[in-house]
Amino acid sequence: MIPQSFIQDLLNRVDIVGVVERYVPLKRAGANYVACCPFHSEKTPSFTVSQIKQFYHCFGCGAHGTAVGFVMEYTGAGFVDAVKDLAQGVGMQVPEVKSERPRGKTEEGDDLYAVLLKAAQYYRQQLKNAPRAIDYLKKRGLSGEIARHFGVGYAPDGWQNLQAAFPDYNAKALVAAGLVIQGDEGKRYDRFRDRIMFPIVDQRGYIVGFGGRVLGEGEPKYLNSSETALFEKGRELYGLYQGRRAIRDAGRVIVVEGYMDVVALAQHGIGYAVATLGTATTPAHAQKLLRQAEEVVFCFDGDDAGRRAAWRALENGLEQLADGKQLSFLFLPQDEDPDTYVRKLGKEAFEKLLGDALPLSQFMLRELSSRVDLNTHEGRARLLHDARPLVKQVAAPLLSLLLRKQLAQMTGISQQELDAQFQVKSNAMAAAPRRSPPVQRSIVRWLIELVMVHPEFARQIERDALEPAQDVANINQAELKTLRAMLEAAASGETVVNWPEYFRASEHEGLLRQVEAGLLKRQEVNLSLDEVKAEFSGGWSQLLEQIRRGQLIALNEKSKKQELSSEDEDRYRQLSQTAPAAAQK
Ligand code: GTP
Ligand code: MN
Repeated sequence: MIPQSFIQDLLNRVDIVGVVERYVPLKRAGANYVACCPFHSEKTPSFTVSQIKQFYHCFGCGAHGTAVGFVMEYTGAGFVDAVKDLAQGVGMQVPEVKSERPRGKTEEGDDLYAVLLKAAQYYRQQLKNAPRAIDYLKKRGLSGEIARHFGVGYAPDGWQNLQAAFPDYNAKALVAAGLVIQGDEGKRYDRFRDRIMFPIVDQRGYIVGFGGRVLGEGEPKYLNSSETALFEKGRELYGLYQGRRAIRDAGRVIVVEGYMDVVALAQHGIGYAVATLGTATTPAHAQKLLRQAEEVVFCFDGDDAGRRAAWRALENGLEQLADGKQLSFLFLPQDEDPDTYVRKLGKEAFEKLLGDALPLSQFMLRELSSRVDLNTHEGRARLLHDARPLVKQVAAPLLSLLLRKQLAQMTGISQQELDAQFQVKSNAMAAAPRRSPPVQRSIVRWLIELVMVHPEFARQIERDALEPAQDVANINQAELKTLRAMLEAAASGETVVNWPEYFRASEHEGLLRQVEAGLLKRQEVNLSLDEVKAEFSGGWSQLLEQIRRGQLIALNEKSKKQELSSEDEDRYRQLSQTAPAAAQK
């Protein structure tokens, strides 16, 4: 991202009159310059350029903006190109702000991230010279494109191949990175030999480890990097980084068991799958997943092991779950995994299956009641006994309420009786609504910032979805109004670069000046345009979710006063099931 401070410097140096004159001949008229407007057809000039304010404005069509806006509007250039163009004209160099590199240094000062990256490059290179490995991947239905998307490589057979990539094969860093094993008697050798290599990438895009699969038969089938300073199996999810955009677009993420499942699904157009690394789903996983998407679908084999794994995921997901988010469980037919299923039946069939995934509450009650005989008092008592610790973990208040109601029904007691047994207060919710982690800026404000810097992303947004936000208590209404005004301006085709100026003397000016000052102070990290776009669409979904959650909280309040009607319960169900639309396709 180009820092806002640079844009300001640029605008201070550029003279808008000269810029406009490159394209449109101007005539002096008092303090301003005028011309027939290039943005609409007219016979008498209503297009004015103010040298003092460094702005153009058309009294006929309302076109309005700075030099950057003018170049964008007139030439159709994007924001970055317009800035580059103008910067070149005044001899300024557009800064490429480097994002900060995380620290993964060993005591010797070697950077483990760099070591892993180099190894990945080596493995990728080796794949090109390994027809056997290429054949294997082809046999499994993978295209070169998908292999590249996941950075798949090949570790050749042999004991010290990495020497080719790392001349100092004795460096401690190679062991610390989990690539080389220090044997007894000082002998060292490569951990991965004759394996297909899947780099494991953390959320920021850095390689933290590898998974290696044998070609064909062999033990162990998969070998993971050992846990290192950078790599903790219980925290990482394979494919999360590569799938982040697809996950945002889909509003959901599927959790599968294997590397190949993730890759095969992506090969068939389902890019929003991730895998745990041969471990059960941990609370850290659940938390990470629920931050990425509204809906998390766990997809397991239909066998006993799959059911057990699903149960673990349920137990670890309960506390992370908030109203408005959904965890569900999909069991595949016997002897299928997502890889085999999607290869046989394709994307549509797999997505149809996803539609039938069991919501957490149903899976939980089904599992619990399958273990007992509901026709006996003993069985029903057992059900309540088993359900109690789980229900008490449910942090989402409304979901907790609905679960308790249903359990009461299933066991033939009243909800009051059940709540007394579970020691939850009947007329209060099981737990206070979870607060999202403290953030410095509200989502609305974050969106305002993004629109401010990249108004082009705000053009096609569905503004009507903001309507219910007026009634949501924890959304700052002044910020909301300003965001709406900005979105409106953007949608009407305005090219605004200096927003405070654009809204001069209106109720929005003050806030926009504050936001701008904040932007100037912070050095923004270097987000690419694509990433800004993703941020925007992610922020937008989050805002929609906040709105939805606000409505849920209002329902919660009502229920405390025992005023929850059956319509309200329906509304809750509806609110907790509709995933918000992504901002842009
Ligand atoms: P393919 O046979 O390549 O389709 O693999 P799969 O993903 O179908 O394999 P499976 O269902 O057997 O394993 C699922 C996941 O468990 C793998 O992706 C690995 O993360 C892990 N796993 C499987 N086998 C081993 C093993 O032998 N050792 C270790 N450490 N992990 C394994
Ligand atoms: Mn498989």
